[in-house]
Amino acid sequence: MLKGKKIILGITGSIAAYKIPFLIRLLKKEGAEVQVVTTPFALEFVTPLTLSALSENPVLIDFFDEENGSWHSHIELGLWADLILVAPLTANTMAKMATGIADNLLLTVLLSARCPVYFAPAMDLDMYRHASTKSNLQTLQSFGYHLIEPAEGELASGLKGVGRLEEPEIIFSIIKEALIPQSPFVKKRILISAGPTHEPIDPVRFIGNRSSGLMGIELAKAFAAKGADVNLVLGPSRYSVEDPSIIVSHVTTAAEMHKSITSLYHDADITVMAAAVADFTPKEIKKEKIKKEDGIESIVLTQTTDILKELGAMKGRGRILVGFALETENETQNALKKLQDKNLDLIVLNSLKDKGAGFEHETNKVTLLAHNGKKIQIPLKPKSEIAQDIVTYIEEHLISE
Ligand code: CTP
Repeated sequence: MLKGKKIILGITGSIAAYKIPFLIRLLKKEGAEVQVVTTPFALEFVTPLTLSALSENPVLIDFFDEENGSWHSHIELGLWADLILVAPLTANTMAKMATGIADNLLLTVLLSARCPVYFAPAMDLDMYRHASTKSNLQTLQSFGYHLIEPAEGELASGLKGVGRLEEPEIIFSIIKEALIPQSPFVKKRILISAGPTHEPIDPVRFIGNRSSGLMGIELAKAFAAKGADVNLVLGPSRYSVEDPSIIVSHVTTAAEMHKSITSLYHDADITVMAAAVADFTPKEIKKEKIKKEDGIESIVLTQTTDILKELGAMKGRGRILVGFALETENETQNALKKLQDKNLDLIVLNSLKDKGAGFEHETNKVTLLAHNGKKIQIPLKPKSEIAQDIVTYIEEHLISE
């Protein structure tokens, strides 16, 4: 869910630095990129080896990289980050940050940063309630920095009070919320089907269609980027999906897709059937490869289950169901009929007539037809952008209904 998010994790010299490896693991597990920048003193409390192994990036401490004869640009680092978190933050570095002192890499990165800055202090209770600390805390907040308040409890000194670094899980959830924009899709479960299905004739041959699966994959990514938990049921596709918040179930035939979708539908708040499910499947699958000399006079086909129609019939209230329609004639009329027959909230009409649209292209041109009669034409553009438009439509018009 944090895939592609870039976080600079500033560590200063506090005993609480031992908690940071746990935090890095949580961030990495969600797909975030983590660059650790420490003050020199921080490394008395946690080893660079642990930090670099977990973050999968070398730890930056000095301005100069003597080994490679280069220097670390604090400006580039400051601009690279989507968010900077300083945790644990000592009274010393806090005072320097409040006054703009720039005598180490971390402090200069903070001065160059344009992204949100979060800081989680850790110190003894008397230091934390000292007037200078209070004033520095206020100064940092007046810069727009966000305070992650220390917790109350036993401190390293043996005293009890406020000053403990907040637990990694709590810091993680604050950072995650900050990085994922407020979205109605957070904690929503989305079910998407994508790709073609292959219907076997014999062990080597099948009947299929030209769907690449890209449209459905882009939809899965667009929902995941908005904080949703996504299940993607994917037919044979050359594309792979590597996003920790998308769970992919691979299927081959229409029957397998039916089974997989049915098992996941119950928990789905929103379902989008973008797959080009085969409407027909061979009645009989030959166990052995059909030999040329034996010939094939005919293949008898039977109809597959219309998955979307079945889902529509058991939809119930409060759930959103979206279908696709691929038409070559009487397009709008046919799509509207499908919208009604399959009890959908929205249908995305693809036309095969437009150049660059439909199967096998990275672009598409679609028309959104909603159950309330709304019609929106989306011009030819990359499927990733079309996916975002569909997600935005669902967010703005269907979720709030
Ligand atoms: N669909 C489905 N199960 C099938 C066939 C289609 O769930 N066996 C879904 C598709 O995923 C799509 C929608 O139904 O969201 C419309 O698919 P399309 O092929 O355009 O229409 P069909 O209903 O199959 O009708 P026809 O082929 O006659 O146009």
